Amino acid sequence: MTMYNLPVDRMTVSRPPRLRGAVQVPGDKSITHRALLFNAIAAGDATVTGFLDAADTRDTLEAVRALGVKVDEVGDGRLVVHGRGRAGVTEAADVLDCGNSGTTMRLLSGLLAGFPFMSVLSGDASLRRRPMGRIVQPLRTLGARVTARAEGTLPPIVVEGGPLAGGQHIETPVASAQVKSAILLAGLAADGSTQVTEPAHSRDHTERMLGAMGADVVIEGTSVTLTPPEGDLHAIDVHVPGDISTAAAWIVAATLHPDADLVLARVGVSRSRAGIIDVLSAMGADIEMENPAVVGGEPVADLHVRSAGLRGVRIDGVVVPRAIDELPLLALAGALAEGDTVIADAAELRVKESDRVATTAATLRALGAEVEEHDDGLAVAGGAQLRGAPVEAAGDHRLAMLGAVAGLLAEGETTVSGAGAVAVSYPDFWADLARVGASPAAARA
Ligand code: S3P
Repeated sequence: MTMYNLPVDRMTVSRPPRLRGAVQVPGDKSITHRALLFNAIAAGDATVTGFLDAADTRDTLEAVRALGVKVDEVGDGRLVVHGRGRAGVTEAADVLDCGNSGTTMRLLSGLLAGFPFMSVLSGDASLRRRPMGRIVQPLRTLGARVTARAEGTLPPIVVEGGPLAGGQHIETPVASAQVKSAILLAGLAADGSTQVTEPAHSRDHTERMLGAMGADVVIEGTSVTLTPPEGDLHAIDVHVPGDISTAAAWIVAATLHPDADLVLARVGVSRSRAGIIDVLSAMGADIEMENPAVVGGEPVADLHVRSAGLRGVRIDGVVVPRAIDELPLLALAGALAEGDTVIADAAELRVKESDRVATTAATLRALGAEVEEHDDGLAVAGGAQLRGAPVEAAGDHRLAMLGAVAGLLAEGETTVSGAGAVAVSYPDFWADLARVGASPAAARA
């Protein structure tokens, strides 16, 4: 299997006769970032089990270490974070490199706004194009001294931290867990409560985890009010469930492949993340949630997915933030469904690791689907006969996986350029593809 761990750039995929087996998808990316960041400022040792070991979460891990917090990798997918409370966090000697990770940059900026030293955060070319005014503005409202390139809108970000004013209520125009979390993390250093209201529910891992660590977190509708604890947060052990956003590749592949039966073990199915299951079920998918359990405050289940015929749907409104990272795969599902699929209210797709409206449309069109691009989404004609073709990951891990899944379903060969982008969230993706019955191959030059 070692070839799949090489930094492959072009991989060729074709439709296998069947997809069978069980996949343990890697740990949830959002929860891994939070387990590292929150335990880093808490008092006590915390063991994080099943953490995602991928480029994005490594960036958070290295940032935490650069801020003076000791983290040991103890094997078996376990990390121990040795938090010494807020007093154990010290100024980094260099720029904090957030790589490709918006979550690292936005959550860290909010967290560091409350520490009495200077931090500079930057990242790769994709991250340096992503909008940061959405955190810079609210952090300034909380009294933080935060600046950024292009009049406070683009990385690098400079945070000159210090104590913050409490009693603020911030309404954010976007339903974004990264923005909400940045505000709540700054609120940990505020004198009193901080409230944030978003237009729709985004993922709630921050609220759950900070609440479990001793912050007072009150949720009313789409508002969250945080009151910091008297002293430090207390460290908590975290069992990270499998990431539904990576499971999504297998869910869509198994649903649309004519002879598939896959089990995805121990996937996190929190309501704020499970929009893909709701949408695909409404389209006619056969997804059974087996062995439901609650692990570390997060609901998990084994997802048993079998082939099914789908009908097109309209995806808009409150389900969009609950399925935001899965929308490219849902667009692919739409192309193979009966009838048309429309994705709306999803302008956020344009400011992800790539412009995912444009890159998803380009991938699906390359394979022969009919796709219209809209400002806030896509319209996809159903009933496409997909034919293998060269597709581009555009430096975006989710697009690399979209290309591969499309390749599992199309006639002929699909070659994904920039296939190594999967390292951001799912380094073993190509190996797992082989495990379920496909035989991806490094493309010949
Ligand atoms: C994330 C939130 C989402 C998501 C990203 C991870 C998080 O971004 O797209 O992959 O961990 O908070 P937004 O909150 O900006 O929509």
